[in-house]
Order: sequence, then C-alpha cells, then structure tokens
Amino acid sequence: KEEKLALPVGVTLDRFIMRHQEQFPYASGELSQLLRDIALAGKIINREINRAGLSNIAGAYGSQNVQGEEQQKLDVVADIRFTRALRNGGEVCGIISEEEEDYIDTGNYKGKYIVAIDPLDGSSNIDVNVSIGTIFSIYRRRSPIGTPVQPEDFLQRGVDQVASGYVLYGSSSIMVYTTGQGVNGFTYEPSIGEFILSHPEIRTPKNGKIFSCNEGYYYLYDESIRQYIDQCKREKLMARYIGSLVADFHRNMLKGGIYLYPATPKSPQGKLRLMYECNALAFVIEQAGGMATDGQRRIMEIEPTGFHQRAPLFIGSPQMVKSIEAMMNQAR
Ligand code: AHG
Ligand code: MN
Ligand code: MN
Ligand code: MN
Repeated sequence: KEEKLALPVGVTLDRFIMRHQEQFPYASGELSQLLRDIALAGKIINREINRAGLSNIAGAYGSQNVQGEEQQKLDVVADIRFTRALRNGGEVCGIISEEEEDYIDTGNYKGKYIVAIDPLDGSSNIDVNVSIGTIFSIYRRRSPIGTPVQPEDFLQRGVDQVASGYVLYGSSSIMVYTTGQGVNGFTYEPSIGEFILSHPEIRTPKNGKIFSCNEGYYYLYDESIRQYIDQCKREKLMARYIGSLVADFHRNMLKGGIYLYPATPKSPQGKLRLMYECNALAFVIEQAGGMATDGQRRIMEIEPTGFHQRAPLFIGSPQMVKSIEAMMNQAR
C-alpha cells in the first residue's frame, strides 16, 4: 500500500489532488479535473447563497420537481450551475440530479464518468439562513467511451462509486470528499477563492452521544425505532436535527453520532434518495470508519432500479448503527 501522503494542513485542494493523482489507478487526470469542476461549482453556489437574502434568489421557484417537492429558486440555480460546470468540464458523459426527472446526456461522449447530484440539500432551510449543502457521487461509465451515455451507466451500486462527497455552506464552507483513500475536508477561503485542507484524514468516533431524527414522525416509526429513540433519551444523548442532511451528517461524523431517516407508512422507503444522498454519504462514512444501512443491508450494496429511488437511512458511528440494527433484527 503506497505510503499515505500526509500533506500539511493549509495545502490547497488543487495541490492535494495533484499530489494524490498517482493514487487513482486508472485515471490520467480526468478524475482530478472532475473534482476541480465540482469545487468550482461549489464556489459559485457559495457566493449565490451568501447573497440569497439580498438578491431575489430566495423563495419558491414556482414549480415541482419529480419528487413532488416545491422547488426553491436556489434548488434550480444550483442545479443549473452544477450541471453546466460538469458539462463544460468535459469529463462527465451523463448526470442524474434530484431536480431533473430524466438523466442528462452532456454530449461529452469521451467522458469517462457519470455524476449523481443533490444540487441543494436542505432546501427548507434556504430562506431561514440555516446551513445547506450539495451532495455528489461519481461512477465510471459502463457503456463504451465515445458513445452516448446509457441509463444503466447510472444504475450502479454504491460499492462501485469512484468518489463521493459534499459541500456544506455553513458558518464557513467546507468541501469533504473521498476517492476510497480516506476522507479529507477543505475549508473555503473566500479571500483567495481556494479550498484549503483543514480536516485531513477524518475518522468518525466509534461511538457517539448525538442522535438525529425528525421526532415529529416518532409515532409513525416502527416499534423497534421508537425503542431505540427511547434508549437514546434514557442515556441522556444529545438530540440534534436541523433538517439539512449534510449538516447533520457532517457534525455527527466529526463528533460521533447517528442520523436516522426511517421508513414511515406514508414513505415506506423513507425520504432520502439512494443515488445522490444515501450512497454518497455511505461511501464517505465507511471511509471514515463508520456505517450506513437501510436497516437490512449495507446502503452501498443496494441494487438500484431507478434514478430517484428512496431508501431508509441509518448512518454514523458504527456502535450506534449496530445497536439500532440489532433492535430492528430482534423485532423481525
Ligand atoms: P432536499 O432539500 O435535498 O430535498 O433534502 C432534504 C432532506 C434532508 O436534507 C433533510 O435531513 C431531510 O430532508 C429533512 O426531512 P424532514 O423535513 O422530513 O425531516
Ligand atoms: Mn428536495
Ligand atoms: Mn437532499
Ligand atoms: Mn436537494
């Protein structure tokens, strides 16, 4: 195993990608360029978000997406910015997005990669100044290079991801990603327009004292889920849930904790989308030493059948995920 390139905190994302380039067994720079294209779109969205209160970019866009959600203007702006950055970057032959019903053929037939993206995660928080994010997942295409992208290029299990990560637009903005060689976080320095390595080799604590779920649905959850939540309360754990998956996930990964979005009778597969929320964060958390399951299977082993299919999600510190899994299995 190559010796880990322990780069000093403070190195730019560009420099970091260059230094790790040789660790991508097959890529001759395309994946590096793709990660740069994503970082660029993240910088642009970051700027839009920082001005959301001032420009007329807040509020509803006036249409629904395939999820049946009222699209926010920033959902649409983020979708346009990311798909344009990926199209112009040239490395991506196809995209699936939360905000687009069908897949996008970028026309880059020579592109080796496809991207699944949640352009703006936590849309309900845009207008109230609470942290929101972008989540992305990258696969190698399966169809021959030089031909138009095919639907099966997108329907790949999470275990086949080449890279995944997120941008969290918060008190400071941070880009966190993995290429299967561990997880690194880069904080955005607006004065120079660069993401700077600030969280090298993130490892999530084996156990945690934070649980995150929407307790408004408590009485809709299976008995075993309610038992787990009751146990968290008996143990006086911290309840933290802000309604932006990326923000709840990032805090729990750094501090230790579990995020749960279980199935309910009205959402029998839960709410979160497998391809651009669950799989992307499952790859990150596993690379940081954590776990992600749908209650029965490892998230990354689910065989996808649709671009927007949902999956129940239990993700975070391994000991916490194991204990809720045990409770759910006892109940079966
Ligand atoms: P999105 O804004 O991309 O549609 O995702 C929203 C998700 C996730 O970010 C958040 O944790 C969850 O929905 C909140 O759902 P509830 O409002 O049902 O708790
Ligand atoms: Mn949405
Ligand atoms: Mn989302
Ligand atoms: Mn979204």
